[in-house]
Amino acid sequence: MNDNTALIDEISRRIGSENLLAHVRSFGCQLNVSDGEKIKGVLKQCGYGFTDDEAEADLIILNTCAVRESAEDRVFGIVGSMKKLKEQKPSLIIGIAGCMTAQSHIAEKIKKSYPQVDIVLGTSAINALPQLLLDCMNGARFSADITEYDDFSAEVEQVRESSFKASVPIMFGCNNFCTYCIVPYVRGRERSRAPEDIIAEVEGLVRSGYKEIMLLGQNVNSYGNDLGGEMSFPQLLRRLNDISGDFIIRFMSSHPKDASRELIDTIFECDKVAKHLHLPVQSGSSDVLRRMNRSYTVEKYLSTVDYIYSRDPDFSLTTDLIVGFPNETNEDFEATLDIIKRVKYDIIYSFIYSKRSGTKAAVMDDPIDDETKGRRMRTLLEVQREISTEHYKRFIGRRMRVLADDVSKKKEGYLTGKSSEFIIVEFPGDRSLIGQFVDVEVTGAMNWAVTGSIIG
Ligand code: SAM
Ligand code: SF4
Ligand code: F3S
Repeated sequence: MNDNTALIDEISRRIGSENLLAHVRSFGCQLNVSDGEKIKGVLKQCGYGFTDDEAEADLIILNTCAVRESAEDRVFGIVGSMKKLKEQKPSLIIGIAGCMTAQSHIAEKIKKSYPQVDIVLGTSAINALPQLLLDCMNGARFSADITEYDDFSAEVEQVRESSFKASVPIMFGCNNFCTYCIVPYVRGRERSRAPEDIIAEVEGLVRSGYKEIMLLGQNVNSYGNDLGGEMSFPQLLRRLNDISGDFIIRFMSSHPKDASRELIDTIFECDKVAKHLHLPVQSGSSDVLRRMNRSYTVEKYLSTVDYIYSRDPDFSLTTDLIVGFPNETNEDFEATLDIIKRVKYDIIYSFIYSKRSGTKAAVMDDPIDDETKGRRMRTLLEVQREISTEHYKRFIGRRMRVLADDVSKKKEGYLTGKSSEFIIVEFPGDRSLIGQFVDVEVTGAMNWAVTGSIIG
């Protein structure tokens, strides 16, 4: 990790008493949001304040995602519209960071077609940022550093969005090379953070009053594989569970090929670990899974699910699904419907396949038209809606421990929160309860949440 202290001091000397404001916007997964919080941490050290309004910002950083084409198109649309802002305020500095820029053709496109952009940072954003900012302040028109994967600036102080929910990346990168996915190309190979750093960070967060700790990695189950047997993910969970304090531990994502019985037993045995598992299945067809390079079959996946349900038939599972993978047949799609009916997920996150250049799937034959893919997506969502409406009823009459996290957008005087099972709970309550655990008795179920009232 670079020591940027001298650069940060120089920027903060230049900013002096000017009240400069930065606007940082993250577009991707929770790891990307966590990077955005670290970018803010560095900017805060440099002397910037923050604003949600890009029109009043002196520095805008778009922290991008490359996982689907729509995510990239959105960013290009926003960068295009920033031309006007730059004309109105020529001193405005615009930077693009994150996974999009780790693809050299994208960095080139930005340089060629978007002269309003001053800075391009690869996934080395945090370490490269002070130098690039200083270059800009010294009059450079375009500074770029697309050095890849230098994300071990994990110990940078983060400006966290929430005062009670914190994300803690435990590893970076991915070794799995699912054939549709760009992540290994823009994030590099798996690198685990040292267990003592993670434990110290979680202890600090709990001491500062954080109530929910979300451990992040593209496949948390392979945490520690590069640490020479020092610590596995289930062992890490047990160590974190031993930290005293009133908090809940979540984690995401868990690759089904590595979701071991030891992991499942650990979830059941650790009182602070949430009773929920996000287990992305992607497709219900073993043939599609093979072509996706997911390294498990439907049978293997279902044997994991059956083990979980043998321990608790009401356990909460959520998943990711891709519709319209190249050459997905009607039978393959029907198999996906079958698996969601069989497993009864509480939530599915479903995506229409998006071709990512450089991946193996990008060169596969894809005779399925967009209309068919759209129709399959609508059918999938309809079937899931029925499943959740029915399945959420199992919580009626139960008491749930809920971390209240916001006021309800739909009902005046109500709060929303998440239960240990990752279920949204809506209940009458005062906003002073936000950030606290409350016990709620569930009285009703919808297809996206349960409702109830606080006990005691
Ligand atoms: N590492 C996680 C895993 O394997 O479960 C997933 C991380 S990825 C950022 C989140 C989800 O995006 C994936 O589970 C997949 O469903 C979806 N996804 C990834 N690449 C995609 C693509 N090319 N088109 C559509 N969806 C995609
Ligand atoms: Fe992408 Fe597969 Fe890695 Fe998840 S496990 S990030 S889907 S390559
Ligand atoms: Fe995340 Fe998107 Fe990058 S999902 S790892 S921000 S490509």
